[in-house]
Amino acid sequence: MPDYVDGPIRAFAIATMFWGIVGFLVGVVIASQLAWPLLNLDLEWTHFGRLRPVHTSAVIFAFGGCALIGTSLYIVQRTCRARLFGGEEMGWFIFWGYQFFIVSAALSYVLGYSQGKEYAEPEWFIDIFLTVLWVTYLVGFGGTLVKREEPHIYVANWFLLAFIITVAMLHIGNNISLPIHWGSGFSYSAPAGVQGAMIQWWYGHNAVGFFLTAGFLGMMYYFIPKQANRPIYSYRLSIVHFWSIIFLYIWAGPHHLHYTALPDWAQTLGMVFSVMLWMPSWGGMINGIMTLSGAWDKLRTDPGLRFSVTAVAFYGMSTFEGPVMSIRAVNSLSHYTDWTIGHVHSGALGWNGLITFGALYWLVPALWSRAKMYSTRLIEWHFWLATLGIVLYITAMWVSGIMQGLMWRAYDELGFLQYSFVETVAAMHPYYVIRVLGGVLYLTGALLMAWNFYKTITVAEAHEAERDLAPARAVAAE
Ligand code: HEM
Ligand code: HEM
Repeated sequence: MPDYVDGPIRAFAIATMFWGIVGFLVGVVIASQLAWPLLNLDLEWTHFGRLRPVHTSAVIFAFGGCALIGTSLYIVQRTCRARLFGGEEMGWFIFWGYQFFIVSAALSYVLGYSQGKEYAEPEWFIDIFLTVLWVTYLVGFGGTLVKREEPHIYVANWFLLAFIITVAMLHIGNNISLPIHWGSGFSYSAPAGVQGAMIQWWYGHNAVGFFLTAGFLGMMYYFIPKQANRPIYSYRLSIVHFWSIIFLYIWAGPHHLHYTALPDWAQTLGMVFSVMLWMPSWGGMINGIMTLSGAWDKLRTDPGLRFSVTAVAFYGMSTFEGPVMSIRAVNSLSHYTDWTIGHVHSGALGWNGLITFGALYWLVPALWSRAKMYSTRLIEWHFWLATLGIVLYITAMWVSGIMQGLMWRAYDELGFLQYSFVETVAAMHPYYVIRVLGGVLYLTGALLMAWNFYKTITVAEAHEAERDLAPARAVAAE
């Protein structure tokens, strides 16, 4: 067995947990600010406008990114039976470089630096650093694939490689800008007007498609078979899943720009490709869930697997909802409302969050050579707190969003708007409070996970001692 590089992967596992808690906490803070505006504290550094990108970047790029980079480096080494190309040094450079990127991006938002492009807020000097780091990651991952001992490239690596390459392309494409002057840090986007918007949503949608979907599918294709101890349900389906997702996602960006200055044909193109995406997405969901055929009983005994399978069910749900929302007539109701926020979080909390927790519950004992997690009960508590939190969050947003959309378009018998804007805001208040509660439950679950990891890592001798004593006990019983 090669001498795998695991130190940086352990660090990524801890960082995933840490940034997850930070990101969920900031999520709870901004959710509370929307419910009780006084919590903006009247300070420029703490108001919603600056903290919102801290939340989105913390959960997507810090929590999701550390989970993806860490697991991908684990998966590529194991499935290729090869040590990481570039060794420990490259692994640690990727780890510390990525942490530096996260901290500098978050600090820059709070201090008021932003390009004003959603999910691509960092200014050019941070963008350039990330490009260098990402290329190093690509070289490490790709180099390991090249020097593999296995003749075959396992399908999880296909998804992970597509994630790494496409994110590089999107990041560079969407960040071409002209610094105003070198000292100030601010810049102008090279494309402007509707072209600028189109490039931004080509980026934004494919960040969903390749960061939040393809990368996490790589995780699904490795960890679910591992947890279920069964091969993937259909290898052929996984290949069809891969190529159709890769081909279709890249066209769907214009569904973010319905009823704008973007030409109608481009909006229709985005809508059609989005509807087509439903099929391969469900193909992937079926492949993940059916891998459990013949091993369903494991769901009762392995709560980590329960996370992964529920995550795939949420993946199915959000990839059904997305195509529906991309239909122009539906989007005229959902756009600008909390329905979008509900859709985002059914994917984010349900799919990205739960699949990551499932993978970590498998990975942490494996990385620290422990027999099992410290407490199964705590994992069960985490599962139910997270699930209940998600249900509260997304149902509250669906009700609030559809109500908001319907109130905006309601007319009275004389043809006047029936509700003023502030009436819609007041009507949404109870749902905002429910969302805060959902977020608190989700965060509490993550804190239990952190405690469970801490105990697993630090008190493992107890487990080992217990295991060693087991045969002795059996003999004593005889
Ligand atoms: C405790 C858990 C969480 C809470 C309480 C929370 C709360 C929020 C709130 C209040 C907003 C702003 C909504 C608005 O502007 O109307 C938001 C936006 C967002 N959150 Fe979360 N969030 C949580 C977890 C997550 C996770 C785990 C992810 C991703 C992996 C995520 C991704 C996003 C994204 C992408 C947006 C922007 C949505 C858009 O612009 O349409 N959130 N979140
Ligand atoms: C077949 C798959 C999917 C399709 C066709 C799709 C479609 C859509 C549509 C139509 C919108 C609303 C655009 C608007 O009105 O502005 C949207 C927003 C969004 N979706 Fe999806 N979705 C899919 C899957 C997912 C998944 C799995 C996730 C997360 C893991 C996700 C995350 C988001 C985010 C973050 C936004 C908000 C973007 C923003 O305005 O800031 N989507 N999606």
